[in-house]
Amino acid sequence: AAVVTGGGRLAGRRVVITAGPTREPIDPVRYITNHSSGKMGYALAEAARAAGATVTLISGPVSLAAPAGVQVVPVETAEEMLLATSEEVDKGADLFVATAAVADYRPASRAGQKMKKSHESLSLELVRNPDTLATIAAREDAPFTVGFAAETTDVEHYATDKMKRKKLGMIVANDVSAPGIGFNSDDNAVTVFWPGGRQAIGPASKREIATSLIGLIAERMA
Ligand code: CTP
Ligand code: CA
Repeated sequence: AAVVTGGGRLAGRRVVITAGPTREPIDPVRYITNHSSGKMGYALAEAARAAGATVTLISGPVSLAAPAGVQVVPVETAEEMLLATSEEVDKGADLFVATAAVADYRPASRAGQKMKKSHESLSLELVRNPDTLATIAAREDAPFTVGFAAETTDVEHYATDKMKRKKLGMIVANDVSAPGIGFNSDDNAVTVFWPGGRQAIGPASKREIATSLIGLIAERMA
């Protein structure tokens, strides 16, 4: 099917998007994070705005400028991301897209002072972080919810399993084992799954992928 984009496909819709990595503090000067650049989420925010939506971007620490006409809510940790996203969805949302690379675990405690290298080895206890995507999708007033899945093996199996487990309207699967696409790159290639269908998009720039994705999402929402 042809993917129609822009031209007010999301006019009057409220869209919430998470983007970037999270940053989980170990002590006042150190943290755990990942290589997410935020580019895919920021490109999606721009594309949703271009399609006429009111867009809020809940963003972990990235070095990208706020897209024109998009409200950016900066957060650092996974817990802050869940809180900020929940508050935004409380105001009413039609679409939630989770592109953020959320740290699955955080240090069990945060040292109040900078840790000294007093031993030959160090173990860090980590505890599970809350899942923003699953939490929003489980709400009684859940918006149409789209997840991302970055996988290195059995992409289709893991992605469709995540879609079912988290009760998503759609999942965008990313094979991050392929060179030159995905995490920190300008380009991407994805396969989108929804209950009963699928479509491959790219390889193309994240900007082009975002425009196609917004068109596909608008079609599924309609
Ligand atoms: N996600 C989230 N909050 C988390 C973890 C993940 O909102 N604490 C979202 C991501 O933004 C993404 C989707 O869930 O849209 C899938 O993330 P992924 O890391 O692939 O899945 P996990 O459920 O964390 O499973 P695993 O890392 O074990 O594959
Ligand atoms: Ca994860």
